[in-house]
Amino acid sequence: MAPQLAWIGLGNMGRGICKNLVAKGNLDKPLILHNRTKARAEELSARLGSDKTQVVDSVRDAVKSADIVFICLGDDPAVYAAVDEILQEDVRGKLIVDCSTVHPDTTESLEQRITAQGADFVGMPVFGAPPVAEAGGLICVTAGRREAVEKVRPYTKGVMARENIEFVDQSASKATLLKVIGNTFVLQMVEALAEGHTLAEKTGLGVENLHRWIEVLFPGPYAAYSSRMLAGDYYQREEPLFQVDLARKDAGHALDLARKSGTRLPAVEVGDAHLVKVKEHLGKKGDLPSIYGAVRQESGLKFENRD
Ligand SMILES: NC(=O)c1ccc[n+]([C@@H]2O[C@H](COP(=O)([O-])OP(=O)(O)OC[C@H]3O[C@@H](n4cnc5c(N)ncnc54)[C@H](OP(=O)(O)O)[C@@H]3O)[C@@H](O)[C@H]2O)c1
Repeated sequence: MAPQLAWIGLGNMGRGICKNLVAKGNLDKPLILHNRTKARAEELSARLGSDKTQVVDSVRDAVKSADIVFICLGDDPAVYAAVDEILQEDVRGKLIVDCSTVHPDTTESLEQRITAQGADFVGMPVFGAPPVAEAGGLICVTAGRREAVEKVRPYTKGVMARENIEFVDQSASKATLLKVIGNTFVLQMVEALAEGHTLAEKTGLGVENLHRWIEVLFPGPYAAYSSRMLAGDYYQREEPLFQVDLARKDAGHALDLARKSGTRLPAVEVGDAHLVKVKEHLGKKGDLPSIYGAVRQESGLKFENRD
């Protein structure tokens, strides 16, 4: 019999992942869904099939009959609050998996609290934007006890992910360390694209010419972010794909790790300062690639490239 799964957090990432769990996860019971804003859970349930999903009102209700509980929430305080609720239930023998991007210290503290109450814990942040989650193409980073990592494996590569990176019998916080350090690469990629396109426009090379080179030399995420910038997608979206507050949270975690370990991350500081400007200009609609608008403004161009 397949384990009973529950999913807490149906934001941009959670919704796409749940679609793939239902379609390819070989579940023999409905996937239990919980979200703070219940309407989102109900909409998803209607889309995926009410026979394949079950919406519940509270975190505790999600945990009661589940064997494996996945969490995918915005930030550290939200994850702490969810785990507080989870631990009000008898969790002995259950497995809790956190897919959120949180500070490694948070992961360490959650691991201690959860395992002290007889449950297992796996840190499993993911790489890939919401459309990648929807397409089942994420990279899952899993860390924890071998038995726990093995229990979660059937739902990763081939279901929600195209690849797994596993840190077996290592602290769960190794997964979030990789995630936070990995996201500094993403921030720097976006910063490089923003600066390059601005320079290409101002020197007369032209952004399309630079884009052609990016496509040839850096296909994949560089080319995808470049396309979004040139199309004006970085300021036109109602719902951002990598919301500015989440991007700043990740940069903040990286800068904190740097401070504590005696490392300097000047490139991350620059990217984060641009994210502050993005928030000022676009508010909650600010997205990671909106950094392009901030760099354009600093160079005397309009934030928006298409208006
Ligand atoms: N977006 C990306 O490109 C990306 C990629 C990889 C990893 N991640 C990480 O994955 C996680 C989820 O990201 P996302 O893009 O899905 O974020 P999102 O669309 O902003 O969704 C956030 C989710 O967290 C819930 N939430 C936020 N604060 C809460 C609180 N205080 N109490 C209860 N629930 C709360 C939201 O509930 P409501 O629906 O009620 O607001 C929603 O379900 C984040 O940790 C993010 O850093 C994101």
